Amino acid sequence: MSLLRVSELSVRFGTTVALRDVTLEVPAGRTTGVLGANGAGKTTMLLGILGVVPRQSGRIEFDGVDVSGLNTVQLVKIGIALCPENRRLFPNMTIDDNLLLGAYGRGRSIERRRLDEVYERFPWLHERRHELAGRLSGGQQQIVAIARSLMSQPKLLLLDEPSSGLSPVAINEIADVLRQVAADGTAVLLVEQNVKLVQSLCDTAWVLAHGQVKDHGPVTELLAGLRVADAYFGGLPLTNESAPVQA
Ligand SMILES: Nc1ncnc2c1ncn2[C@@H]1O[C@H](COP(=O)(O)OP(=O)(O)O)[C@@H](O)[C@H]1O
Ligand SMILES: [Mg+2]
Repeated sequence: MSLLRVSELSVRFGTTVALRDVTLEVPAGRTTGVLGANGAGKTTMLLGILGVVPRQSGRIEFDGVDVSGLNTVQLVKIGIALCPENRRLFPNMTIDDNLLLGAYGRGRSIERRRLDEVYERFPWLHERRHELAGRLSGGQQQIVAIARSLMSQPKLLLLDEPSSGLSPVAINEIADVLRQVAADGTAVLLVEQNVKLVQSLCDTAWVLAHGQVKDHGPVTELLAGLRVADAYFGGLPLTNESAPVQA
């Protein structure tokens, strides 16, 4: 059974239709990709799922239950977390305090317990816990952002372009972290422009273009036919970093 099922989700900003009738499924405990160029509607889709932006229409089912009526705070409580685009850390706050924000409102003892668990998973973060987040490299900041979203112990992590602006070495580190997250049984919906990262972490992916789902299926099949590239409609060239592997 799917952990998350999104049906006919549409979002508009004024007269702009940013997302039109998007339907997709995310299985439990696995990492599923969403590929799309800049402006395809990827971020809007994640924000629409979590109710951060109002949905014009659409149904969200989580763990077999219709949760379309829940607000963002309630959706986080039942196990959906967002690791936002551009990481959104507080650079002048310590790693400790940035992480604690991920469990904000749960009560002091739960916050501390979750923090200990996250530090167990990322020991180097514990060593540097009193450092300001802004002092870390981009890749390290991305790991803090992922760790912060794990503080709410999600069943599903919505992850918005974690590779953005990072070096290939840092992207490999992020991939390792995400393999650990998957090994712990957390499902991930990985939104990316970096085809290689999706290829290395996901069996299945969805392709979004102009606010609509254009394709989905096994990643190998999507890439083999270069159907992903087609779905970009020649809009933005894929970078070397994310160039699809030739069949
Ligand atoms: N808050 C907003 N107000 C108006 N238009 C927006 C807003 N957010 C996104 N859009 C528009 O919606 C479309 C999809 O954007 P976005 O979801 O950010 O794409 P992606 O994350 O794939 O780059 C774009 O045309 C963008 O300009
Ligand atoms: Mg985006």
